[in-house]
Amino acid sequence: MVSKLDLAQFSETVSIPTLPEVVMKLNTMVDDDKVGLEDIGLVVSQDAPISSKVLRIANSAVYGLSEPARSVEDAAKVVGARTIRNIAMQASIFNRYEQYEGTDGFNLRGIWKHAVFTGQLAQELAKRSPVIETSSAEELYTCGLLHDIGKVVLLETLGEDYLEVYEKSRESGRAVHLVEEEMLGVTHTDVGALVAKRWDLHELIVKVIQHHHGPRYEIEANPQVAVVAISDQIAYRIETSEFEMFSRKLAALSSNLLKLPPSEFDEVLEWAVDILPLIEI
Ligand SMILES: [Fe+2]
Ligand SMILES: [Fe+2]
Repeated sequence: MVSKLDLAQFSETVSIPTLPEVVMKLNTMVDDDKVGLEDIGLVVSQDAPISSKVLRIANSAVYGLSEPARSVEDAAKVVGARTIRNIAMQASIFNRYEQYEGTDGFNLRGIWKHAVFTGQLAQELAKRSPVIETSSAEELYTCGLLHDIGKVVLLETLGEDYLEVYEKSRESGRAVHLVEEEMLGVTHTDVGALVAKRWDLHELIVKVIQHHHGPRYEIEANPQVAVVAISDQIAYRIETSEFEMFSRKLAALSSNLLKLPPSEFDEVLEWAVDILPLIEI
């Protein structure tokens, strides 16, 4: 039987991964105008496993480089420093939890693929939405990438107890965050926000992770929260092949909250369906 947790106590016992030094350095470097792409390349290449993974992901079809990049610096010239930071963050987080791949009842690869897909969608919607500053698009990728990280941290912290939550969600057809709330008293949104805080990420990122499943007024009041909440839904519905059923609702939400015309929404969708199979993790 799973016992209920208190978030304050939980935050003292939970094992939150530390961000590798290379990602922490990149986090400060990308906001510094004096830092060049050569410096970014140099920092990443000091961490060999991350560096090779960054290069592999940057050369994957999703980023559509016309010629394969041979170095991180080359890749940064095409995709930009912030995207390189995001790819490095992605590579290091996935490496950190590798041992949970193949856990029965917990599809870790599915969660990572969903995270990257949500990040890609959030960035694309943010670039197109007139109510969101284009400069925050990469930050919204980070939000998408990290929005469900609380699930993996909960798995590591609670083990079997967390798998029970998943089982109950599957059996009852209820969303994971609702079952978490009921069985654990904390949700992956609380834990994800805690992770972002510990990593000193921007307040915006903490807020978006905290509210990606609601409450509704937070989604309606903050376009950045709305972008990730809508991207999460689009990603999930495409992944589970039930997008048709929800397309009108999601188009209406995008129009109301992101001021995205229906024709642009359709373009994003077409693009999303095309890139999903190209995502490498
Ligand atoms: Fe979630
Ligand atoms: Fe999600």
